[in-house]
Amino acid sequence: MNDSQTLAEHVLQGLRAKQKALSSAWFYDDEGSRLFQRIMAMPEYYLTRLEHSLLRERAQELAQWISPNRTPLDLIELGSGDGEKTLSLCRTLADQNVDCVYRPMDISAHALAELSRRFESDLPSMALEPTLGDYFEHWPQVPAGRRSVAMLLGSNLGNFDDVSAVRLLRRIHTQLRPDDILVLGLDLKKDPHVLQAAYDDAQGITAQFNINLLRRLNRELGMDFDLERFRHFASYCPLEGVARSFLVSQVEQVVSSSVLSQTFNFSAGESIFTEQSQKYTLQSIERLANNSGFRSIHVLTDPRQWYSMSIWHRVGQRA
Ligand SMILES: C[S@@+](CC[C@H](N)C(=O)[O-])C[C@H]1O[C@@H](n2cnc3c(N)ncnc32)[C@H](O)[C@@H]1O
Repeated sequence: MNDSQTLAEHVLQGLRAKQKALSSAWFYDDEGSRLFQRIMAMPEYYLTRLEHSLLRERAQELAQWISPNRTPLDLIELGSGDGEKTLSLCRTLADQNVDCVYRPMDISAHALAELSRRFESDLPSMALEPTLGDYFEHWPQVPAGRRSVAMLLGSNLGNFDDVSAVRLLRRIHTQLRPDDILVLGLDLKKDPHVLQAAYDDAQGITAQFNINLLRRLNRELGMDFDLERFRHFASYCPLEGVARSFLVSQVEQVVSSSVLSQTFNFSAGESIFTEQSQKYTLQSIERLANNSGFRSIHVLTDPRQWYSMSIWHRVGQRA
């Protein structure tokens, strides 16, 4: 989502709505991608550490499920970011002499450049075919006869509301062939205090990440958001199992955009909804698979069952 026309339409619609809202997909400009790397290193953000441990420590088990008997495969990672975690899995596949082409996709050129640097230096033997683009619009061409393994990590599916999550899963289903695989890293429900801290860390990095969205709009749409007059707010609701982030206007103010030739009014305390992060149970993940044309064949979790990695088999005919 780097297209300025799409951003303009999104902001017009999002800031005119009764509950103002902007999509988290726009967080990842170069600075947003850098800040997200810092979030992943925060003590409170257990998601990355647990997922990375699964990919590192259970890589042989995972490799066995996605490439039984060393079946050749194309590993298509949706929203790959800098690929640090996937490197561990790719290393194991390379050690086992699996014929693998790694196809990371991301809307962030910065993230893909980092990923390419990392693979060139740490695993130069891996065949790497990055795609810069939106996974709702683009999909890499995989030669006939090769198995695709799509992968969506970081609990990214949880950033979508229920309707959009199923839409994304159906899109993946449409792109895959029968017997292809989807690997999904999903965050599990747990103590709300742990979840609350993950989205509102003590150092304020998540706050900077959220505020950076306004900086992006200032730069790309000629807006005049005063970054000091908005504040990050995050809250986890145990009833719904959802963490939500907002930017809250600290005063009554008017923000304008020279590109959109528009002004937007904010009352004191009014919020812009910027991100949701759905948390799952192992049962709800299984239901999601069944409702979107997949069958769960294996699940990896850490000992506390804080985080999960599910391996789904694509069932049914190609749509
Ligand atoms: C939360 S980060 C996660 C990165 C990585 N998967 C991980 O788990 O560390 C989300 C990544 O998805 C990318 N992204 C978000 N929406 C996307 C879309 N529609 N198409 C392609 N990439 C997208 C972002 O640029 C960002 O790098």
